[in-house]
Amino acid sequence: MIIPSPYWVSYPDIVLLAGAEPVVVETKVEDGFKLTPEALEKAITPKTKWFIFNSPSNPTGSAYTRDEIKALTDVLLKHERVWVLSDDIYEHLVYDGFDFTTPAQVEPKLKDRTLTLNGVSKAYSMTGWRIGYAGGPAELIKAIGKLQSQSTSNPCSISQWAAVEALRGPQDFLKDWVKSFQERREWWCRCSTRRPALAVRPRKARSTSTRPARAVSGRRRRRGK
Ligand SMILES: Cc1ncc(COP(=O)(O)O)c(C=O)c1O
Repeated sequence: MIIPSPYWVSYPDIVLLAGAEPVVVETKVEDGFKLTPEALEKAITPKTKWFIFNSPSNPTGSAYTRDEIKALTDVLLKHERVWVLSDDIYEHLVYDGFDFTTPAQVEPKLKDRTLTLNGVSKAYSMTGWRIGYAGGPAELIKAIGKLQSQSTSNPCSISQWAAVEALRGPQDFLKDWVKSFQERREWWCRCSTRRPALAVRPRKARSTSTRPARAVSGRRRRRGK
């Protein structure tokens, strides 16, 4: 399974747990930590089964535009064996009017091999309720249900109804939340520009900003720390 890096820390272990092999593909700071179509093409081999796509991304906050997603889906169209797992959990936490899109939307021809994931942990701050959900080909969803019902057997009905309410209820509060996240991001970006080694590029989504770790890794303060 191809995992663009930096990635959410759990992906490789989830892949290993499924008996597959995580194949980590580095992205570059100058590309905004986004995977290029060339890098994706290069990473695909006859053994590749899945491509994990996460936009907006944890931990980088990078978000792919429609055109950037199209460039990746064009590569995937050429490789019929490769399925796409799109983790859209940060869908609503986008800034500067960013237009969120997801691979199945951008390239409907990929729908029959795309699993789109989401959950209520982030946008609705319902982390402890343990509700995630997925959309994809019926056969795959049926298999996921079978596996889950024989393993975790969760989530409980109380959480399920709370999640239904979160998703179907009024969504206008999200605007205020995102506004305050954006204000925090701007505050942090302003503060960081006072220290060149910490200078950050604001991201379009989720996290306040991301700065290249190599700018400070291995460096010491004057007192030796
Ligand atoms: C990218 C991404 N996907 C999925 C999850 C899982 O979220 P949860 O287990 O809280 O629903 C997280 C949690 O941090 C995440 O960052």
